[in-house]
Amino acid sequence: MSKQPRLVSTICEFREAIGLARREGKRIGLVPTMGALHEGHLSLVGAARAECGFCAVTIYVNPSQFGPRDDYARYPRSLEADLEALARGKADLVFAPGDGEVYPPGYSTWVEPPAVAAPLEGRHRPGHFRGVTTIVLKLLNMAGADAAYFGQKDYQQALVIRRMVEDLNVPIAIRVLPTVREADGLAMSSRNRYLTAAERQQAVILWQSLCLARDLVARGERRAAAVVERVQSLILSVRPARIDYVALVHPETLEPVGEIRQPSLATLAVVIGRTRLIDNVLLEPPAHPS
Ligand code: PAJ
Repeated sequence: MSKQPRLVSTICEFREAIGLARREGKRIGLVPTMGALHEGHLSLVGAARAECGFCAVTIYVNPSQFGPRDDYARYPRSLEADLEALARGKADLVFAPGDGEVYPPGYSTWVEPPAVAAPLEGRHRPGHFRGVTTIVLKLLNMAGADAAYFGQKDYQQALVIRRMVEDLNVPIAIRVLPTVREADGLAMSSRNRYLTAAERQQAVILWQSLCLARDLVARGERRAAAVVERVQSLILSVRPARIDYVALVHPETLEPVGEIRQPSLATLAVVIGRTRLIDNVLLEPPAHPS
């Protein structure tokens, strides 16, 4: 049995515990999460521990980043199992605040997200990034960590946070780690728990379609529209799939790409049954296409 990390639920205790670690000479790595933890989250914990020596994890299902039609009410909450996973992952400190601690009565300040928050997820989930930037800035301010860890799985989120931290002069390093996948390629996600057994099998189409995009580009296809069309028709060959978007975009600006001459991001959001899943992959065009 691994030792459970210390669990705190108030900002005051959180700051005290981090202050203590600092006085012991440790650097602080912060991993913000909404819980329902899986190996993707644990890879961030591992990196934080390895690079900083002390890993603080936050678990908070942030209501302000869910829209009225989103899954806030049914979002999985599993604190006991999460603490066990974090014990295995050797996290040092867990901060799991209640809503009253984060958004006390009278709360009324919000972060206006940067321009990269506008397309893709921003267009399909209005208000989402306003909630994300606000909670992440609050958590960064509460923790005063040296580095914060995010996953490439939520590529646009990581980009938005990087921009916010730079624009608002937040003194922290932002680290982005590769997407951890199931054996069949499906990106790990807390939302995979919603999938029925049949939907789980169908969900692998996200990864397969990204692989198709990668292969087409590796074999010399340079027309983004042609790649998007092939990806869309592969996804739609799966019956309960509905596409929110499939896009080839510039990896920094997220502007649509016409010709794939530089590394480009293939990114998609697909609804399988009632579950909305996102994934992405970086496409590297060959230097000398055949
Ligand atoms: P959540 O979805 O719990 O994800 C927490 C962190 O884990 C994010 O940085 C996310 O990109 C990363 N992550 C999720 N799945 C991953 C995977 N398969 N491989 C690698 N990393 C993965 O993202 C959020 O929570 C929230 O928006 C949050 C930033 C905590 C703000 O509320």
